[in-house]
Amino acid sequence: MNKQVTLSCAGIIGLCLVGVAAAEDVHIRTIAATCMTCHGPGGKSVGKNPNLAGQNKAFFVQSMKDFKSGDKPGTIMKRHASGYTDAEIDALGDYFASLK
Ligand code: HEC
Repeated sequence: MNKQVTLSCAGIIGLCLVGVAAAEDVHIRTIAATCMTCHGPGGKSVGKNPNLAGQNKAFFVQSMKDFKSGDKPGTIMKRHASGYTDAEIDALGDYFASLK
């Protein structure tokens, strides 16, 4: 393989990786939008439901796992937490922690 071919292959792989990262981002934002119907626009609470914007990630992830297992009592969150994988919860934790 000559140098030019090698470089263009690397370029294509790079583009694919960027594409996968962007798709993942959209996926997490789409999930987060469903949370915001109750937790407020941008994750900022407007009522009695807890704030998610700027939430400590470790607390967020632990809360979601505890809702799933039933260790954290709640009215509706067990249903919401149960629908998502650990990887999605981890990414949601990053996303909400990043919101100001
Ligand atoms: C139907 C309304 C509703 C939706 C949708 C919803 N939540 Fe909640 N959430 C609540 C309520 C109410 C509580 C308080 C605990 C309970 O009663 O279940 C809560 C609590 C939480 C807590 C605990 C916060 C704390 O300070 O203790 C986290 C974390 C959380 N929700 C994350 C999410 C995420 C992530 C989503 C989206 C996947 C989501 N919620 C979707 C209503 C909702």
